Amino acid sequence: MNYLQTELCGLKLKNPLILASGVMGSSVHSLNLIAQDAGAVVTKSVGIEAREGYRNPTVINWKCGLINAVGLASPAAKDFAEQLKDYTNESPLVISLYGYTPEEFRKLVEIFDSALPFHHAYEINLSCPHVSGAGYELGKDVGLSADIVEAAKSSTENPVFAKISAMHDYINLAKALEKAGADAITISNTLRGMKINIISRKPVLSNISGGVSGPAIKPIALKCVYDLYKEVEIPIIGCGGITSFEDVLEFIFAGATAVQIGSAVYYSRRVFYSLKESLIAYTRAHDCSISELVGAAHD
Ligand SMILES: Cc1cc2nc3c(=O)[nH]c(=O)nc-3n(C[C@H](O)[C@H](O)[C@H](O)COP(=O)(O)O)c2cc1C
Repeated sequence: MNYLQTELCGLKLKNPLILASGVMGSSVHSLNLIAQDAGAVVTKSVGIEAREGYRNPTVINWKCGLINAVGLASPAAKDFAEQLKDYTNESPLVISLYGYTPEEFRKLVEIFDSALPFHHAYEINLSCPHVSGAGYELGKDVGLSADIVEAAKSSTENPVFAKISAMHDYINLAKALEKAGADAITISNTLRGMKINIISRKPVLSNISGGVSGPAIKPIALKCVYDLYKEVEIPIIGCGGITSFEDVLEFIFAGATAVQIGSAVYYSRRVFYSLKESLIAYTRAHDCSISELVGAAHD
């Protein structure tokens, strides 16, 4: 019996552990490495035009996780699509997209669909908290977010995930996105926060504030998954602060079909291998597949 294999919107995942967007930057080589052990990998968010992002410092490592304001630094979609032709496809690829209007998201989907020869998915970034007019700000407008999902869905046969934030009115937003055709909801992106240097007495990040990730946000993201499981029919992908196999199980029990892992990769690139091995041991010991455990906390 393959204890960890799972299905997500028609994608076959060898395990429910997905690389979250951004932590590995836009390097296809890094995606290939992680794909050896991860169930799927999500790229750094990419838009129509190249973006430089903010100047350093852009990432702070503090005691409960990271705070980042990278500013969606990425190559232009057409260039990135060329680079992704080197993806080995050992695990399904999810392309994270950022943009400002439904029309832009439609174009982005068309660029990647026409360039890539393999089946893949998209994740619409409605939740990055530190770029004006994109990400989180789109997610605050439920109608616009639904139009974006509809535009993306109408241009592709591939699954479309919508990534939202615990800072949103996430139940209403997720319900509207489900109605608009989203195939899954990813929750959560980073949550707004900052750090001040007590010597200079000034904010550490060049952007002043950024997004908090890692263990600090785990209980918040977990509650979002638990709440959404009762409200939507489509799969939920839990994300926020996962570092151990116990964390993964909590998200699965709360109702996540799969989970995404970001900051933990910053500390160890082997994290997918070790989480996978621990989950195999757990499911074997309990003689159940991981998918049977989804939502167990609600029974
Ligand atoms: C350095 C860094 C860059 C990130 N870049 C993106 C991004 O481009 N798009 C996105 O949707 N999320 C991005 N995220 C958010 C992560 O995908 C994830 O949602 C968040 O970090 C919470 O998960 P974690 O606690 O496991 O890190 C980034 C996070 C970090 C730390």
